[in-house]
Amino acid sequence: MSVKIIGTGSALPEKIVTNDDLAQLVETSDEWIRERTGIGSRHISTGETVVSLAARAGERALENAGRTAADVQLLLLATAAPETGIPCAACQVQSILGAAGAVAFDLNAACAGFLFALHTACAYIEAGIYENALVVGSEVLSKIVDWTDRSTCVLFGDGAGAAYVERCDEPGILGFVQHSDGTKGEVLQCGGRQLSNPYISLPQEPSFVKMDGREVFAFAVRQVPACIQELLGRIGLETGDVDLYVLHQANRRIVEGIARRLAVAEDRFPMNLDRVGNMSSAAIPVLLDELNRAGRLRAGMTLVLSGFGAGLTYGACALRW
Ligand code: UT7
Repeated sequence: MSVKIIGTGSALPEKIVTNDDLAQLVETSDEWIRERTGIGSRHISTGETVVSLAARAGERALENAGRTAADVQLLLLATAAPETGIPCAACQVQSILGAAGAVAFDLNAACAGFLFALHTACAYIEAGIYENALVVGSEVLSKIVDWTDRSTCVLFGDGAGAAYVERCDEPGILGFVQHSDGTKGEVLQCGGRQLSNPYISLPQEPSFVKMDGREVFAFAVRQVPACIQELLGRIGLETGDVDLYVLHQANRRIVEGIARRLAVAEDRFPMNLDRVGNMSSAAIPVLLDELNRAGRLRAGMTLVLSGFGAGLTYGACALRW
């Protein structure tokens, strides 16, 4: 018995914001952003929400899988920026899709969120609790980004990606590795609501994403290759056995650094960050969906998905397409 991705989907906000557009807001340039990150433009919400994007991505994944919302037994939504504390975004997506029979809940592991949600879905399916799951990563980071901070506002984009997975007899997901290091939480953070009740009231200042970019960069280039090696070792594969490495899209130089450390040719590392920026938990499923719809994923191919982000969290998953 295995768990296989049967369909993928994605959704991006309509508005495209170029580097030149950002140069009108903060002191930056197309040249700096492209050279330091590889990003050329990103989609930014002018009304789309985590829920609306997730619902569209989920709908497309179901269509792609040839399944309906009524089939879905588990709906997991990874996000770091939900619109509401309660109800969770997953339940709102369940209602829009009409997935009445699904159990739905959110999960937050920042940029590694989609991978952690996929792993959770697989664990449920392998345990025999559910037979399938719709796993979504959806982010509207533009509402938690400080648009006066050039070191972060140029990096992020909004969007959602989804994968529909099912219990199956052919080989599918081959293995997972997940890690968290809460001692490094301060390098990438965004506050929530402060304590306020009749007995104490802390100042309710809006909080935005704050990041030590160099620390995150160094962490990613060091830990992601180690994590991928750990995963491949566990399932008895070599780096050369992997057809495509679908990595979190944070920075072109990070992806290139990881490819170098693994001694794998860069053409095995597809990228879309030039058009979409860093979409946190949506990055991996959106890229996967683009590859799928472009016909670049053939049956039997071996893929490694790997992400890293705030927490710190990081992980990798190997699968047979
Ligand atoms: O999903 C996970 C979340 N985040 C990440 O993965 C981000 C990981 N980190 C990175 O991608 C890179 O560290 C950044 C792109 C954030 C920054 O690149 P860097 O090469 O590490 O630049 P830096 O922070 O060392 O800054 C170099 C210079 C600084 O100026 P000084 O101090 O040398 O005069 C910055 O103030 O570049 C300046 N700078 C900018 N200049 C123009 C920072 N942001 C900008 C900007 N435009 N947007």
